[in-house]
Amino acid sequence: MEKKTFYITTPIYYPSGNAHIGHSYCTVASDAIARYRRMQGYDVMFLTGTDEHGLKIEQKAEAEGVTPKQYVDKIVANFQKLWKLLNISNDRFIRTTDDYHVKAVQKIFRELYDRGDIYKGKYDGWYCTPCESFWTETQLKDGKCPDCGREVKWAEEEAYFFRLSKYADRILKLYEEHPEFIQPESRKNEMIAFIKQGLQDLCVSRTSFTWGIPVDFDPKHVVYVWVDALTNYITAMGYGSDDDSDYKKYWPADVHFVGKEIVRFHTIIWPAMLMALDLPLPKQVYGHGWLLFGDGTKMSKSKGNVVDPNILCERYGVDAIRYFLLREIPFGADGVFTNEALIARINSDLANDLGNLVSRTTAMVQKYFGGHIPEQRESEPIDEELIAMASALREKCDKAIDGYQFSAALTEIWKLVARSNKYIDETMPWALGKDEAKRDRLAAVMYNLCEALRIVSILITPFLPDTAPRIQKQLGLSAESLTYESAAVWGVTPASAVVEKGETLFPRIDVDKEIEELNALIPNPMEEKAEEKKPKIEGLAQIGIDDFAKVELRAAKVVACEPIKKAKKLLKLTLDDGEGERTVASGIAKWYKPEDLIGRTVVLVANLKPATLCGVESQGMILAADAGEDDVRVIFLEGVPAGSSIH
Ligand code: ME8
Ligand code: MG
Repeated sequence: MEKKTFYITTPIYYPSGNAHIGHSYCTVASDAIARYRRMQGYDVMFLTGTDEHGLKIEQKAEAEGVTPKQYVDKIVANFQKLWKLLNISNDRFIRTTDDYHVKAVQKIFRELYDRGDIYKGKYDGWYCTPCESFWTETQLKDGKCPDCGREVKWAEEEAYFFRLSKYADRILKLYEEHPEFIQPESRKNEMIAFIKQGLQDLCVSRTSFTWGIPVDFDPKHVVYVWVDALTNYITAMGYGSDDDSDYKKYWPADVHFVGKEIVRFHTIIWPAMLMALDLPLPKQVYGHGWLLFGDGTKMSKSKGNVVDPNILCERYGVDAIRYFLLREIPFGADGVFTNEALIARINSDLANDLGNLVSRTTAMVQKYFGGHIPEQRESEPIDEELIAMASALREKCDKAIDGYQFSAALTEIWKLVARSNKYIDETMPWALGKDEAKRDRLAAVMYNLCEALRIVSILITPFLPDTAPRIQKQLGLSAESLTYESAAVWGVTPASAVVEKGETLFPRIDVDKEIEELNALIPNPMEEKAEEKKPKIEGLAQIGIDDFAKVELRAAKVVACEPIKKAKKLLKLTLDDGEGERTVASGIAKWYKPEDLIGRTVVLVANLKPATLCGVESQGMILAADAGEDDVRVIFLEGVPAGSSIH
């Protein structure tokens, strides 16, 4: 029987600067899924690559006195080296400068032109060079680029346009018919709101720079970035080339993993382009969150605040970094990266929980049985819970992975690790070891621990591909007892297995010493800020970003509002928080009438414990400013879709 295929992609990254931990995050996440699916028996295609054209790269190369190709070659090599270091198992690596891609993009561009979905027009607007984006007057923020805050300049040029506007209805219908198309759910509402504002046709060529794929029938134009970039997902499979067998085999992709800032391109422009070409659409786009620094800013190349994954891997090992990225942040949400959090995870989850379990178990099997667990074993009812938990683990992981929740899968695995450690405390093998009559019981305890570890070692393989075989070697296990199938079966470890105590998997880190050394290596923006001695608001203690991160602020639209009879001060608001409706009672009746609020967007504290105020259950609160004595003003947001997170 033919294996089922599974096609997963990362964004293709801009090689305008070296790969950083943010790129690593998405790539490691995709890798974990690719590996998990392979383990499940899928025929996996895992694609990553680099997006090498555009003005920014042309300028960077010029500044360094090299050609754009020379410039990207160097950085692409750096990306590839990092992926190797991080154990990334991509099947392909596409560079948009690859000849086959260039030819295929030219073909696609011409095809869209012939079909009438690309036409020639004139482009003008405010242009932000670093972002390579045109903005309309109203999109500017304080006259500057709304994305990066930098200066923009007025620019005009002849350009080709893609008829994006024509596809608005079909895209909305796509979301409706395939609710799973955009994940997580909350990002879908943002996209719907964006489309409903009205879609403009998209500029898809440039004459103002030359570092791009020439439009072959009008060579003073180069194909502008998104047509060049998005099509990589099909050209890498051979679409537009002579041999398109992989395209036929793997397309449509099962999932595109992308950062939340480019969900829009992947869920609006990309499907519209595919519709225009009459090609099947990807099954899902998953918009993951951002890795933020301790001070809450997004890590990116352009801001210069980069955590070097090479240094981190060198100090802690690749698997520790992979584990942190996958475990710390629920996929979809933003997460904060700090050295402290990384080390805390390594010490608690990896060194203490998993590392200790392995070393205690293997040391005891050595000590009591010379590495060979006897077949004569005596079970007790206390074993049942451990066995049941271990036997059910694979299914739990499968389910979490189906929803791309690595953190949940790892949490489940670590529950079994914790349960196993507790099992050691409960069964007290050191006491059993003192009593010759308890030898059979001791054998059973040791066997059970090895079995639990066998199952753990199989299921962590996609996440910790270096660590899993090290554990398996210590347990004396060979391939037959390490299959995906056997991860759901208890009692597979053969009696012949010889357990050896190996080297420590994850040495504990001396936190204070390490933080000191790390901070010397990596500038920690938190500390620099602290030294600036910002004025404090009197009366309140300063809090860390972690405290602030506990408050979930969200844009919410007031869909209904009415006075509350029993309480003159209160208004009862019904809010659309992006996911559903909720009621909030707010003490603003003195300053606002219901009609002042209906239809407007406010800032909701979304994770406040519900409280009942004068008989109304208030599920959250909205933010307002004390603007003066007896002058309270609700904070309104303009043009922000309900459900947008605020931080
Ligand atoms: O956007 N946290 O390339 P890019 C989490 N070439 N993920 C991050 C991150 C962070 N701080 N920083 C980057 C492009 N990423 C285009 C894509 S696709 C057809 C073209 C990850 O180099 C995240 O996945 O800016 C994000 O979407 C991607 O890198 C952007 O990389
Ligand atoms: Mg970017």
